[in-house]
Amino acid sequence: MSASTLPTTLTLTRPDDWHLHVRDGAALAAVLPATAQQFGRAVIMPNLRPPITTAAQALAYRDRILACVPDGVDFTPLMTLYLTDNTPPDEIKRAKDAGVVALKLYPAGATTNSDAGVTDIRKTYATLEAMQREGLLLLVHGEVTDPAIDLFDREAVFIDQVMQPLRRDMPELKVVFEHITTKEAAEYVASAGAHTAATLTAHHLLYNRNALFQGGMRPHYYCLPVLKRETHRLALVAAATSGSDRFFLGTDSAPHASVMKEASVCGAGCYTALSAIELYAEAFEAAGALDKLEGFASRHGPAFYGLPVNTGTVTLQREPWVLPESVAFGDATLKPLRGGETLNWRLTAAT
Ligand code: NCD
Ligand code: ZN
Repeated sequence: MSASTLPTTLTLTRPDDWHLHVRDGAALAAVLPATAQQFGRAVIMPNLRPPITTAAQALAYRDRILACVPDGVDFTPLMTLYLTDNTPPDEIKRAKDAGVVALKLYPAGATTNSDAGVTDIRKTYATLEAMQREGLLLLVHGEVTDPAIDLFDREAVFIDQVMQPLRRDMPELKVVFEHITTKEAAEYVASAGAHTAATLTAHHLLYNRNALFQGGMRPHYYCLPVLKRETHRLALVAAATSGSDRFFLGTDSAPHASVMKEASVCGAGCYTALSAIELYAEAFEAAGALDKLEGFASRHGPAFYGLPVNTGTVTLQREPWVLPESVAFGDATLKPLRGGETLNWRLTAAT
């Protein structure tokens, strides 16, 4: 396509972010407005310290989030609980009544703030059965934590060790394999039937693991699950742009102060919320699939969660702009992925 035939404007039904970390306190106040500008709703991850494990905590956290939504902006946080070995099955009814949409499964020790996570999924089966009954979703961080398994293989091994038995034992439970990073996971989800879906981040669609080591260690590209080989990235792009309604947008934007990212032990997480829809537009355009972006960003997620599609729109213009190198994060600073670099698409209007 010659430059003159490239589209210059892109209007989409207002999208949603189905996997987002917004933290709490001053950090929450710093990051929430960027998401609220772009997205109608976001599924809020519960991995605070201590984690959100009860309906009452989720309601209080929702109020703190709503207090950070800028005036005149229409944004709904969709709350989740952190599943532990001890989540009582009767918490599920309370969660449903409180408007909680899902529980998040972190294998214990898999990622940031996951110490309270599940040590053996079978310990949670009574709770999962209650979720299946009440129609709450299970969101899965799909990596095994066995130190004997190579870090780059942990997602693929999780499919065999956890996903397959889970699907067999809880066939009606809606499960989202979050932030998939491998060809194996993309193929698994594509073949797993109507109750299994996946979210995909912008960074896993745009980068392979070389980005972590380009001319030196690049901590801002370090997240979990870690970036994989190019063959995997291509499989993720193919899944995202396939038109299948079981793949949808979840940024996994996970802000950490720059001092934490640039320390000798660097926290896992990429901050992408500042330019999320622009980054996805770049990835879809590079694949020649801009026409598939609206389904992925705005329609497939609500369909899987059984929620209505948003009524507003967002408009992006092809307008090169430089993403800020850093933004305020309470008393600290926060470096967005690609900060200081030029992006081709820019969000210019949202309703
Ligand atoms: C997330 C975080 O920082 O909370 N980090 C990340 O690398 N994605 C946790 C998570 O979702 O794994
Ligand atoms: Zn996450």
